[in-house]
Amino acid sequence: MGYFQVFLLLALIPGSTGLDNGLLRTPPMGWMAWERFRCDIDCRKDPTNCISEKLFRDMADRLSEDGWRELGYEYVMIDDCWMSMQRGSDGRLQPDPDRFPGGIANLARYIHDRGLKLGIYADMGSATCMGFPGTTLDKVELDAQTFASWGVDYLKFDGCHSNAIEQSIGYPLMSKALNWTGRPIAYSCSLPAYLGGLPPNVNYSYLGNICNLWRNYDDIEDSWASVKSILDWYSTNQDDLQPAAGPGHWNDPDMLIIGNFGLSLDQAQAQMALWAIMAAPLVMSNDLRTLSADARAILQNRVAIGINQDPRGIQGRRLLQELGHIEVYWRPLSHSANALVFLSLRQDMPYLYRNSLANLNFPAGSFEAYDVFSGKTLSGLTDHTIFTVSINPSGVVMWYVYPQQGVFRYV
Ligand code: GLA
Repeated sequence: MGYFQVFLLLALIPGSTGLDNGLLRTPPMGWMAWERFRCDIDCRKDPTNCISEKLFRDMADRLSEDGWRELGYEYVMIDDCWMSMQRGSDGRLQPDPDRFPGGIANLARYIHDRGLKLGIYADMGSATCMGFPGTTLDKVELDAQTFASWGVDYLKFDGCHSNAIEQSIGYPLMSKALNWTGRPIAYSCSLPAYLGGLPPNVNYSYLGNICNLWRNYDDIEDSWASVKSILDWYSTNQDDLQPAAGPGHWNDPDMLIIGNFGLSLDQAQAQMALWAIMAAPLVMSNDLRTLSADARAILQNRVAIGINQDPRGIQGRRLLQELGHIEVYWRPLSHSANALVFLSLRQDMPYLYRNSLANLNFPAGSFEAYDVFSGKTLSGLTDHTIFTVSINPSGVVMWYVYPQQGVFRYV
């Protein structure tokens, strides 16, 4: 089928917008291969880390045996480089036979048997970013059916090697094709990242109708500089981005790199806190087999997770940028609670930061503040109390603030 016919087909489909899967009422949580394991396909030299069914089975074992699943980390997600270089004789995508000898349906069964879900990667275009077979417009429906027949639960649809016209047709077409399969498959669209991420090139209310989440910006890498640049881009553009998020449709600032090599513990807490504030997917890309106890404690922090997964689904915002390189972030939560993050971008010593809740737009009243990472509670705060927090360089203090008479719901 040529592009013109596909276009006509699209125009003729009744009720042709709307991803109708009821999924991701809160941001997805799980594990994804890319940032940590990239396109390592040499299983002879690197059998433990190469992109193979063993890697995903290992991660499913860890998620189900080390307490992750119970906390909500449920998706095990394959990224690029899983495919064979050729489609099968039936035109279908197929996994590399040496690295996935059991096939994807078998892997899905293994993952489902552990109470987890399987995510997969494809690319709207002539090839994936790493050069594996792409999903051209004529293959969109077939690929959606193939994924559904394997038992896939989530699709990351990248956009390398396609132009803006193909993308504008292909992303909504895949949304419909996933609907047509009848299998609920969460749909992650990389489209905005290929269009500069901002209006007028990106129409976020439209995107919210066809995708469950979307990558807006650059790929994360294993460094604090990368985390900071992503955070800064989302905050600088929060007036355009923040209203786009809500139950069933989320901005995706990319994976959590906590537990790898590039972040100090303070920086790791900062990523966790800020991703929770931003209602971002909590999708780790790390090695769960060798994770340190410190990294695990941060990623398994119940209150940070509870804040991220708050059912109101309101994305937080940067409230203040102080001249002294302290920033304050805020997210409103259910039960009249709020999350605050005090971030230090300083490079000297722990900084004693003073402020009041009134100055952070809180209403008059008495509050308690639970410090998410120290576990201490500060009682008897009124809106006018001047409080002081000590924030480490490139670290955060994160508070869950609730009315004095309220109930602390997260621990
Ligand atoms: C793009 C995406 C990444 C990853 C790679 C794989 O760069 O943004 O998240 O999927 O492709 O090649």
